[in-house]
Amino acid sequence: MAVVDRKWSALPVPYALERPDRARKERYFDPDFYQLEAERLWPRVWQMACRLEEIPEPGDFVEYEILDQSVIVVRTEDLGVRAFENACRHRGVRVVEGRGTCTSGFTCPFHGWCYGADGANTHIPQRRAFAEHNLEADQLDLRTVRCEVWGACAWINLDDDAPPLRQCIEPAATILDGWRVESLRTEWWYACRLPVNWKLAEEAFQEMYHVVETHPQLVIPGMRYGGRDGSSFDPRKFVDAELRYLQTMSEGMAGMVHADDVRIAEGLRDIELPADPEQAMATWYRALNDAVVRWHRAAGHDIPDLNDLSARGINEPMGYCFPHYFVLPMYSSASSYRFRPLGPEETLMEIWSLTRFADGAEPGRPTPPEPWECDDPRWPPIPAQDFSNLPRQQRGLHARGFEYMRLSERAEGHLSNLERTVDGFLAGLPYERLLPALREINVNPLDRPIVDIGI
Ligand code: FES
Ligand SMILES: [Fe+2]
Repeated sequence: MAVVDRKWSALPVPYALERPDRARKERYFDPDFYQLEAERLWPRVWQMACRLEEIPEPGDFVEYEILDQSVIVVRTEDLGVRAFENACRHRGVRVVEGRGTCTSGFTCPFHGWCYGADGANTHIPQRRAFAEHNLEADQLDLRTVRCEVWGACAWINLDDDAPPLRQCIEPAATILDGWRVESLRTEWWYACRLPVNWKLAEEAFQEMYHVVETHPQLVIPGMRYGGRDGSSFDPRKFVDAELRYLQTMSEGMAGMVHADDVRIAEGLRDIELPADPEQAMATWYRALNDAVVRWHRAAGHDIPDLNDLSARGINEPMGYCFPHYFVLPMYSSASSYRFRPLGPEETLMEIWSLTRFADGAEPGRPTPPEPWECDDPRWPPIPAQDFSNLPRQQRGLHARGFEYMRLSERAEGHLSNLERTVDGFLAGLPYERLLPALREINVNPLDRPIVDIGI
């Protein structure tokens, strides 16, 4: 294995990026590289463990699995949301599986050791059968896992020394707070089993360079990908193209642009726009933002002023939280994605379609999805197009003559920034070195150039 021992490395990192615009193929399938990620990356990062609407009532819990670790995330009566290692303190059995509600705590199915929703050991059958040294009081409670709540989700971190969640996901946290991401609820939730490395899967959704070739239906003459030439700009055609784009996105992503927002946009079809293209576009987006906000507020939804220029990034199309979660806001609503490694070349990817509801009209607990294969005909057209490339890419990486990905410094900079941040974790860098990198990559990754992340 080629090992690059960089001067800053506390630990050597195999296949590290030697140049920021080249990522070696082994990063995406080598079992040793995957093992290093399992040892040095995943145990040190904040992970989105569940949406809070999955555990709305005290006693509700879900099991969150990452690699060989299983964590119980539970809503308690008076301690908020807590997390524990899912391992009975007697002989290690996983105390829960899946999800449910514990009315009087958890009971291990093997010999019946009992724990409260706060993790405290409450009962040991035939307690006197054990020696005192195996009954030390502070050793019998379920092991606590760090847990914090943000953005309508519970997050866990397996590292007791990691900085608090918010520090690790800024500035995305502040940007998405401005957009009131916490008010969104699930309309649908799908999962896909992808036969590819988790980074390969994630990176397919984090650049715009692929849109023209992979999603040709989104290239609509007269709007964002062309037609900005002042001499030929036609405001009517621009509005038509914009409406077609919104419809195509709405149908293609099954709701990322919510049908309500498409209808609101349709209502602006006859708007008068200035002849100047820049002014026309600015007028259109301002009017659409206003109309969306008016409609949702009238419906009792919590939505910020989308034209509030003091709110940083309020109209940004993506908020990324390293390493495995992001939100794609579009006007009132969003898609959000989570990726989990299942093996060097297997990933569980989940997609939520999120929107806003009036108080009291929120949908019930979302149903956890059965993962579909990536070629399942039920996938909406846009993810289906992305999924059609991914297994081909994973197989292509194994070609003997293929050495490394050639990244565009301008169009695929985020991929480099992400991979170098992974290298920082694999090198075992301390958090004070990693936090500046996290602050650089937890921004809108689309069209982001390669930047200095200090790694
Ligand atoms: S392993 Fe849980 S009670 Fe024995
Ligand atoms: Fe795509």
